[in-house]
Amino acid sequence: MSVPLVSLRGARYAYEDGPTVLDGLDFDVAEGRALALLGRNGSGKTTLMRLLSGGLRPDAGQLSVDGTPVTYDRKGLLRLRTSVQLVVQDPDDQLFAASVAQDVSFGPLNLGLPEPEVRARVAEALAALDIARLADRPTHLLSYGQRKRAAIAGAVAMRPRVLILDEPTAGLDPDGQERLLDTLSRLRASGTTVVMATHDVDLALRWADDAALLTPSGARTGPAPALLSRHQLLAEAGLRLPWGVAVEGVLRARGLAPVDGELPRTAEELVQLLGVRRV
Ligand SMILES: Nc1ncnc2c1ncn2[C@@H]1O[C@H](COP(=O)(O)OP(=O)(O)OP(=O)(O)O)[C@@H](O)[C@H]1O
Ligand SMILES: [Mg+2]
Repeated sequence: MSVPLVSLRGARYAYEDGPTVLDGLDFDVAEGRALALLGRNGSGKTTLMRLLSGGLRPDAGQLSVDGTPVTYDRKGLLRLRTSVQLVVQDPDDQLFAASVAQDVSFGPLNLGLPEPEVRARVAEALAALDIARLADRPTHLLSYGQRKRAAIAGAVAMRPRVLILDEPTAGLDPDGQERLLDTLSRLRASGTTVVMATHDVDLALRWADDAALLTPSGARTGPAPALLSRHQLLAEAGLRLPWGVAVEGVLRARGLAPVDGELPRTAEELVQLLGVRRV
């Protein structure tokens, strides 16, 4: 088997004066696979994401990139941050500069890149998030969805190999969610591995190649359609059955689904498969 891009082995983490959140956790991020991280409130998704991106250091265990152990000195963390970037859930915890362009340029400037390279990266990231027109706007005057995009652009400007997003669709309207998913698809097509924490099982089924469920008995990872069909496991993780899985059961039972073909992952695909006219 190939070496995972990012891996945690035997990770334990407890907050000071807080609970032990993760213990003996093995977790891999495979290059090129879209990974959805799911689990109930307080199950440790955010903590795990901060461990994977170096914001937190495990009390025990080892984080590796390409099989090389990460060191937590300045050089090691800088190397980690050029590979792995985290976008936190609340953009207001991430944005701090006066304008969008200044905020997005912060990471590349910190890498000590020459000015033209920084400018090119900022332009590329703003274009990728479709917010080039907001470049000179003060971040605090943007809408929530625009601030989310600006925060993601800041991570994209680092050209990470893995982009980790903590509940990126939370608080976005349906169109905003679709646009974000399109953006993530384009980033994936250009070679970025994307990991997303979400509570939305339907979104996970539709978007992810793999799913990881944080349950009280540990993390379970596997191909999203298989993992998100396991009723018992979903119940353990405090999740409900995705609509797509329920629909698949009905389609198969009625002989309406291709035996080994791709199953519909969205309402639009279902309509197309059944050949029903849109009402
Ligand atoms: N800074 C902190 N200090 C102490 N305890 C914390 C801290 N941050 C999180 N915790 C605790 O760690 C556990 C895991 O929290 P975490 O934020 O990782 O969960 P989560 O899966 O992201 O939850 P949610 O779905 O609500 O975002 C919880 O019990 C939480 O109370
Ligand atoms: Mg969280």
